[in-house]
Amino acid sequence: MEKRCKILIIDDEEIVLDSCLQILSGGDYEIRTAGNGILGVDLAEKFRPDVIFVDLKMPGISGFEVLEKIQEIDPTIVTIVITGFATIGSAVEAMQKGAFDFLPKPFTPDELRLITRRGIEKRKLVLETLALRREKELLREHFAAIVSHELKSPLAAVQQYLYSLSNELSDQLTEDQQHRFERIQTRIGDLMQLIHTWLRAITVDIESIKENFAPTSIPVVISKAVESVDPHAIRKDIAIRTAVQDDIFPVLGDEGTLVEAVVNIVGNAVKYSPAGSHVEITAKNFDDEVAITIEDDGIGISSDDLPFIFEDFYTSRSDKQIEKGSGVGLALTKRIIEAHGGNVSVESELGEGSTFELRFPALINQPIELSPINNEFMNKT
Ligand SMILES: Nc1ncnc2c1ncn2[C@@H]1O[C@H](COP(=O)(O)OP(=O)(O)OP(=O)(O)O)[C@@H](O)[C@H]1O
Ligand SMILES: [Mg+2]
Repeated sequence: MEKRCKILIIDDEEIVLDSCLQILSGGDYEIRTAGNGILGVDLAEKFRPDVIFVDLKMPGISGFEVLEKIQEIDPTIVTIVITGFATIGSAVEAMQKGAFDFLPKPFTPDELRLITRRGIEKRKLVLETLALRREKELLREHFAAIVSHELKSPLAAVQQYLYSLSNELSDQLTEDQQHRFERIQTRIGDLMQLIHTWLRAITVDIESIKENFAPTSIPVVISKAVESVDPHAIRKDIAIRTAVQDDIFPVLGDEGTLVEAVVNIVGNAVKYSPAGSHVEITAKNFDDEVAITIEDDGIGISSDDLPFIFEDFYTSRSDKQIEKGSGVGLALTKRIIEAHGGNVSVESELGEGSTFELRFPALINQPIELSPINNEFMNKT
């Protein structure tokens, strides 16, 4: 049997409490009431309601303080503020601070029943989303364990046996046999690399990245990323041009993983663009943020694929794809960027190219020694 939903009503007017109790008593709810903020917070802690109604104007601790305390107790509790017409402005403010909705006084029984049902629906959605997220985390952990124990170790053993076998037989093998041995070794090497990439994506420990946070120079991050992708770009005759604002703010972060994030995006730009095209990287200050954009005129991403490209193991369904990947680069990149308090967005059109934008909170008033960077593109424009 499904558990009854719990509702708490906090209001200093007894008549409001009584009428709420009366109106909601027909529903299958477990209801508690509190006549002031302190009692309300205490009950929220012990009773753990699904939905709490809070009167914004109460003597003693205010409705706003009660909302804050409820957030601390359990941010998944759905809160609805009760307000007089004169305080609708405060209700809007309360919603900006996380309240789900507001109920203006005086209200009809139907209005109260409706908003209660909506609050409960919302609470169910919040709990379901949390459960799904937890399940996804568990899957990630299980997958990591399977990949490392069931795949990586046996494959490493095969690699080792093969290596010693080919050494032992080296002077007895024909040229063709030698060639086939080498191909097996290369294929196994590729598989090991793939498993390594998967494991990196699944197990990257965001919390430990944060331990190494220090003021980090954006030009340095960009130049290291370009240096790493350049050999691939040169092979495809793709020019990577950079335009970095001279006085760009540093960010608080971990240089190594930031370089990895930019490498993944610039690497994609090169990988998914035709030979002879261009990739442009720009970096600028935007108020209290730093924005890095990476623009290519490659194959682009269809609107069907676009919402999913930051998910683990997602690769485009398009048959236009020039090179196939394993679909972990962007998922890892997103986690790294978010661990830095930043975000990544993309605009793209199939056949037209893509623009990725990375935003990070800037470290303002913290100049750091910037190393020189190839600013060829900026000097040209
Ligand atoms: N600049 C781009 N242009 C076109 N498609 C892109 C671009 N960047 C990403 N994509 C699409 O998004 C998918 C996911 O990218 P992601 O970097 O996560 O994985 P991948 O490149 O396939 O493999 P890898 O794990 O080796 O990076 C790609 O497979 C590709 O279809
Ligand atoms: Mg990639």
